[in-house]
Amino acid sequence: FTAPGTGWLAKLGPPGALAVGLLKVAGVGAARRGPELPQVAGSLAAGDAIFLPLYDHFLKHGGVFRLNLGPKSFVIVSDPDIAKHIPRDNSKAYSKGILAEILEFVMGTGLIPADGEVWRVRRRAIVPSLHQKFVTEMIGLFGKASDRLCQKLDKAALDGADVEMESLFSRLTLDVIGKAVFNYDFDSLSYDNGMVEAAYVTLREAEMRSTAPIPTWKIPIWKDISPRQRKVNEALVLINNVLDELISTCKRMVDEEDLQFHEEYMNEQDPSILRFLLASGEDVSSKQLRDDLMTMLIAGHETSAAVLTWTFYLLSKCPKVMSKLQAEVDDVLGDGLPTIEDVKKLKYTTRVINESLRLYPQPPVLIRRSLEDDMLGEYPIGRGEDIFISIWNLHRCPKHWDDADVFSPERWPLDGPNPNETNQKFSYLPFGGGPRKCVGDMFATFENVVATAMLVKRFDFQMAPGPPLVEMTTGATIHTTKGLNMTVSRRTKPPVIPI
Ligand code: HEM
Repeated sequence: FTAPGTGWLAKLGPPGALAVGLLKVAGVGAARRGPELPQVAGSLAAGDAIFLPLYDHFLKHGGVFRLNLGPKSFVIVSDPDIAKHIPRDNSKAYSKGILAEILEFVMGTGLIPADGEVWRVRRRAIVPSLHQKFVTEMIGLFGKASDRLCQKLDKAALDGADVEMESLFSRLTLDVIGKAVFNYDFDSLSYDNGMVEAAYVTLREAEMRSTAPIPTWKIPIWKDISPRQRKVNEALVLINNVLDELISTCKRMVDEEDLQFHEEYMNEQDPSILRFLLASGEDVSSKQLRDDLMTMLIAGHETSAAVLTWTFYLLSKCPKVMSKLQAEVDDVLGDGLPTIEDVKKLKYTTRVINESLRLYPQPPVLIRRSLEDDMLGEYPIGRGEDIFISIWNLHRCPKHWDDADVFSPERWPLDGPNPNETNQKFSYLPFGGGPRKCVGDMFATFENVVATAMLVKRFDFQMAPGPPLVEMTTGATIHTTKGLNMTVSRRTKPPVIPI
């Protein structure tokens, strides 16, 4: 789930150009079956948003090439047909490779890093839990959490203080996902408690591990004495204990309830995914359940926070889009919290989110490793290749998109279908594609639509005067380097939202 940084180099599988040349001379493996991939020599600096140099290489060398970084190499894919081939048409020939290795400490064998039989069984168990009735129910949760954020912003608007929106969005989406996945109220918008801190320590560690030049956490003595690693271990113990507690309490509740399990099972008091998974009666270990919950917590938290951050950044740069958005929201939303009917009518708001995901895909790169020899278009590749499918490049390809870098929700007709990888022929794949496509796409879209609509109905947002330029850095998702500082002001006719 993480975009690669320099730290990946130490773990990348296949050899660089020199060794590929030697293999070719020896006539072994992939080198025999077609032309060699275009070769590009590269270098990366720690902390860089690495998808940016990959974009320049793509314009120069085309939709598939090999990037050699010293003794290691990896294959960069920016061609829609090959982006369809790897995750969809020939998905069985690829694993999550390096991603699974890096995330193992926190996600174990959860759905994102899992491969093979574990993935197949867990995917079959988890997908049904996000049924339509559940996602519809979640709209109330999105509304309540967004309302809490509105109240926080009310105060900032009154005080005239600038607000750092990226961290507020991160808190909003943490509150939402904790409640939705395992019925836990982080309440991080109101105050910091041990669990909020532990969640952030763990998330930052996952990001650090994906970009660190040296895997210090693997060095035997260092990993025990480093204060950072100790803090990570303590955070993991705390989260695991809380999750174990939630799982056993939920098990008891399920045992006591009369409700029959069925396709759209949902307990009104606790509609969480955990409740569904336990009520389904599947034989699953507590450790596996914990891994699955942790995976969904991370998958659903950082992604949505990043989508909201970049959506508000884009809106602040495009007053015309903002006015149109506010006109729709004023028209559709009443005084109460949004309902599913409202969300369906928020068509332009949805297009704003679609377009924000085009320009700032989260994550910007998908990661795979080949399990066998394969052909990428005309190019043969061998087993063990580490591959990065650049969603960033696909979404900004100047051949495919008119004004590729322009934020234009109008490019998606309001009465047309919701854009996805299938109807956009893999030139647009914000939620991936094929068997490993995101399980939370609908959930996340509604969450972002509700939050955006409620915020722009109540407030105007502008970039704070004189803040540092908003720049990007690579983590699991695209972060700003120094936060998104905004000036928030109440709109002239504030709506009354009952609390
Ligand atoms: C997978 C994007 C929200 C759970 C993915 C993938 C993408 C993605 C691109 C495919 C990864 C790959 O093929 O390597 C997003 C975006 C989100 C979002 C942009 C928000 C805007 C969520 C939410 C949840 C979730 C809210 C949970 C409720 C998952 C899981 C997978 C996944 C479990 C792994 C599926 C598998 O491997 O079978 N997501 N996601 N995501 N997502 Fe999301």
